[in-house]
Amino acid sequence: MSLTPVTDPASYLARHLGPDNTEQQALLNALGYSSLDALIDAAIPADIRANQVSSIGEPLSEVEAQAKLRSYASKNVVLKSFYGQGYSDTLTPPVIRRGVVEDAGWYTAYTPYQPEISQGRLEALLNFQTMVSELTGLPVSNASLLDEASAVAEAVGLMSRAQKKGRRVILDARLHPQVLGVAAERARAIDLEVEITELSDDLVGEDLVGVVIAYPGTEGDISDPRAIIEGIHSRGGLATMVTDPLSLLLLTSPGELGADIAVGSSQRFGVPMFFGGPHAAYMAVADKLKRQMPGRLVGVSVDAEGYPAYRLALQTREQHIRRERATSNICTAQALLAVTASMYAVYHGPQGLKNIAERIHGLAVDFAATVSGVEGVELSNRTFFDTVTVKTAGRAQEITDALAEAGYLVRPVDADKVSVSFGESATSGDVEQLAAAFGATSVVEGDAATAIPDTLVRAELPLTHPIFNQIHSETQMMRYLRTLADKDLALDRTMIPLGSCTMKLNPTAGMESITWPEFANIHPYAPDSQTAGWRELIHELEDWLATLTGYAKVSVQPNAGSQGELAGLLAIRRYHVANGDTERDICLVPASAHGTNAASATLANLRVVVVATAEDGSINLDDLDAKLEQHGERVAAIMITYPSTHGVFEDTVRTVCEKVHAAGGQVYIDGANMNALTGLAQPGQFGGDVSHLNLHKTFTIPHGGGGPGVGPVAVAEHLIPFLPTDPNEAVPEDAAPGDRGVPITATNYGSAGVLPISWSYIAMTGTEGLASATAHAILTANYLAKELKDSFPILYTGANDLVAHECILDLRALTDASGVSAADVAKRLVDFGFHAPTLAFPVAGTLMVEPTESEDLAELDRFIEAMRTIRAEIQEIIDGKVEYEDSVIRHAPYTSFSVTRDEWEYKFSRQQAAFPVAELRKNKYFPPVRRLDEAYGDRNLVCSCPPPEAFDYSDEDDTEN
Ligand SMILES: Cc1ncc(COP(=O)(O)O)c(C=O)c1O
Repeated sequence: MSLTPVTDPASYLARHLGPDNTEQQALLNALGYSSLDALIDAAIPADIRANQVSSIGEPLSEVEAQAKLRSYASKNVVLKSFYGQGYSDTLTPPVIRRGVVEDAGWYTAYTPYQPEISQGRLEALLNFQTMVSELTGLPVSNASLLDEASAVAEAVGLMSRAQKKGRRVILDARLHPQVLGVAAERARAIDLEVEITELSDDLVGEDLVGVVIAYPGTEGDISDPRAIIEGIHSRGGLATMVTDPLSLLLLTSPGELGADIAVGSSQRFGVPMFFGGPHAAYMAVADKLKRQMPGRLVGVSVDAEGYPAYRLALQTREQHIRRERATSNICTAQALLAVTASMYAVYHGPQGLKNIAERIHGLAVDFAATVSGVEGVELSNRTFFDTVTVKTAGRAQEITDALAEAGYLVRPVDADKVSVSFGESATSGDVEQLAAAFGATSVVEGDAATAIPDTLVRAELPLTHPIFNQIHSETQMMRYLRTLADKDLALDRTMIPLGSCTMKLNPTAGMESITWPEFANIHPYAPDSQTAGWRELIHELEDWLATLTGYAKVSVQPNAGSQGELAGLLAIRRYHVANGDTERDICLVPASAHGTNAASATLANLRVVVVATAEDGSINLDDLDAKLEQHGERVAAIMITYPSTHGVFEDTVRTVCEKVHAAGGQVYIDGANMNALTGLAQPGQFGGDVSHLNLHKTFTIPHGGGGPGVGPVAVAEHLIPFLPTDPNEAVPEDAAPGDRGVPITATNYGSAGVLPISWSYIAMTGTEGLASATAHAILTANYLAKELKDSFPILYTGANDLVAHECILDLRALTDASGVSAADVAKRLVDFGFHAPTLAFPVAGTLMVEPTESEDLAELDRFIEAMRTIRAEIQEIIDGKVEYEDSVIRHAPYTSFSVTRDEWEYKFSRQQAAFPVAELRKNKYFPPVRRLDEAYGDRNLVCSCPPPEAFDYSDEDDTEN
C-alpha cells in the first residue's frame, strides 16, 4: 500500500491527523526521509508486511457516518424496559449526561496515576467509593470493576486467596443466570469446585472457600441471609452478597448482615443500559480483606505542604508491580461510568435516592397486588424490592409478546414465569397496562409494608457525608463538574504522551451517537427482533477488525484489554485440551510484558515462565530456546507484544512465532500496540494465533479516566470454537472443557454502548486512512526521539535507528549523575502543562513517550521545548551550580498559591518555578496540589471522603493577613 498524502482537507482523516501535509514534510525532512513510504519501509521489517491489508470500503465523511449510524439506530426498537436481570431503566440527569459522559474534560482523561493533575476525577471516584461503602455497610470499597458478573468472579477469587484453604465455592442458584455463567467458569478455570444450589438447604462440608448470596434474587425475591452467613463463617468460609445498590436504600446493608464482601452494578445510578455496557461494577469489603481486594482504590494522602490530597492507594497490589502475584488483572475498569454513578448519588442525595427507591417499590407493590387477584396467575415471590415474578401456566411468551406490542419489554423467565422489574421512569399508568396483560381489569393499591421482610428493613438513611447533601440544584452540579474537571489535565488541554496507552483523538462524530436513545436505551437481553441495528453494526465492526488484524474471527465481548487476554488464553487452554494436550500449562511471558499479561495467565491457570530480554531490547532468542527446551511439552503459549513494549519493531518476530509453534505452543500477540500496525501489517498473518485489541487505544474509544474499555479477542480459524460464548446460554451438563468457549462478561457484546465510536473511526478513515494514521504515529514518535535523543538517550531503537510508535527515554545515567529521577521529571512536566509520559514501564528509571498521530507539530515542539528545558535544569545540578535538594525539579509541581504567597523559601525564582518558558504566559495550568506524599497515604489508609474540616486550608499565618 502506498501512503498517499491527504488530498481533502475537510475529510475526517485530515481532522484526525495532527500534522497536515506541510508539517508531515517538515517532520520527514527532520528525519531525512523523502516520503512516508520511505520512512515506513525503513522502520517496519519487510517480512511482516508481506500481506496487503484488504480494503474495508471508501471512507465516509462525518455527515455520512452519522447518517449510517442513524440508520443502524433506527433498526433498533426501543420499548419501555421492565426486563430487569441486572439492567434497569434509569434516568441520566441531563446535567450529568452533558457534563460528564459528553464532556471531553471527563471522557478524555487518563487513569489517575499522576495524582497532582487528577484531583478532580480522584475526588469523583472517592465519592463513588464512599457511596458504595455507605450503601453496603462495608468499610472499604474499590473504584469500580468491569461488570457485575466478572465482579462476582473477582469476589470468588478474593475469597479463595484470602482463605488459602478449601476448593469448594457455593453459588446461590438465585443469582442472575449471566452471573452464574461467568463466575462459575472463572472459578472452574482456577480449579475451584463450584456448587450451584438453593441456599435454603444447610451448608455442608468443612472445605468451603465461601458462598455467594443473591440479595435480591434474579426473580426479585428477598430472603434473610443471616443464617447462611453464620453457617459459612462457622465453617471458616467467607460470604459475598450480590446487591442492587438502589434496593439498599430500603434494605439492611450487607455489612450489617455480616457479609465480608458486597458486589454489584451501579448501572441504575443514571447510566443507560447501553445494550449491555459499559457500566461500573463495585466491590466493598470488610477491613481484613482490603489489602487483597482487586481493582483500583482511591485514598487520601497529603501533599508536600501537608494539605490533604487524593491518590491511588495500595498500588503495589496491582498487576503493574506484582504481575502474576497481583490481586487481579484489572487495569482499565469503567471509571467514567463510576464517575457518572457517583454524580447521580451526589445530585439526588440520600433522600432523593430513597424517594426514587420508594416510588419504584410502591409501583411494584401495586403491580403485585393487582395481578395477584387475577385468576389463573400466581405470584412467584411475595417479598421483593422492584421485581415481581408472575406464574402464568404456560402463557409467559404470549404475555411477553402482547406487552411488546403495547410497547413494554418484560422478561419471560421460562415457559410459565414472567418477571416485571420497575425502573425510574415507570408510572402508575404503566402498572395498569402491564397488569392488564395478565388479565387484571383495575389497579389495586398494595401495602408497601409487606413486600420487604421486617427483619430486613433498613433503619438508617445512608450517605451522610456532606458531599451527598449539598449539590442538588442544576447550577451547583454544573459548577461542581466544571470545578473538578478544571483541576485535571485531560486530552482536551494537552497532549498526553503516555507510551503504551495511546491517548489519541476520540472522534466527536462517533461520541455523539452513544447517547442516542435508540442505542443507549436498549436492554442487553432484548429479543433479536428489537436489536437488529445494534447487531448489524457490531458484526460489521467485528468483520472489519478481523480484516485489519488478519484473523478469522473477532468477538467484542471482552470489556477491557485484560479480559481479551483472559478470553484468548482460555481459548488456547481449551484448544490444547481438545487436542488431548492437557499437560500444556505454561505461558512464556517476556520480561518486558505489560503486567496484565502475567496476571491474566494466572487467572487462566497457566504458570508464568519469564523469557529474558536481549541487550537490544528484543526477546532473547537463546533464552527462548532454553525455555522451550526445558518446558517444550508443557508450553501452552507465548504472549508477546508487537511492536514490543520497548517501542521497537523486532525483526525476529516471525522466528519467535515459528519456534513456539514448533514446540507445540500457541502464539498470543498482545494487540495493545496495533496502532503501530493497523493498515500496514497483520498479527494474524505474521504468526499470531490470537490477539486482543484495545479499542480504547487504537480504535479511539476514549480512555474515560480509566475506562470504558473494550478488548476484542481475535482468533485464527482453529480457535473459533473457543471464542467467548453467550453468558446466558446454559452449558450442557456433559460439556467438557475442550468442547467450547466460556463467557467472559455479563453480556454477549460487552461494552456495546461505545462500539459506535470505533465503528465511526474506521468507517471515516478506511483502510488507507488507517495506514496513514499508523504511519503518522510512527513519524511523530521518531521525530520526538530524534529531537530528544541528545538530551535523553533513547533506550532502544530498531532497524535504521528508528523506533516504532513510541520511544523510551533513559534517565538512569542522569539520575546517577544528578539525583533527578524519572518521577521528578514527570512532576516537573506538570509545570509546563503536560501530563507525564509513562513512568517506569516497561523499564524502571525511564519515561516512555507516545505522541500518537493526532498531535500537530506545534504541540510536539512544545513538548520538546519542555523536555529540553528540564534537561538544562538537570545540567545545572550536574555542573554543581545547584544542589538537587534545592533544585526547581525536586520540589515540582507548584500550585498558584505556593508561588504567590508572601513567603518564598526556595533558591530559584517564582518565575522559574511557574513560568519556565515564555509560552506559558499565554496559557498556564496550575495543579491544585503540590507533590503527593506517596508513602503516607498507604500507611494511613483512608478510602472514603474525609470530613470537610480536613480541607480547611486556613492557617495561623494566613488568617493574620
Ligand atoms: C501492552 C498492553 N497489554 C495489555 C493492556 C491491558 O489493557 P486494559 O487496560 O484494557 O486492561 C495494556 C494496557 O495499558 C497494554 O498497554
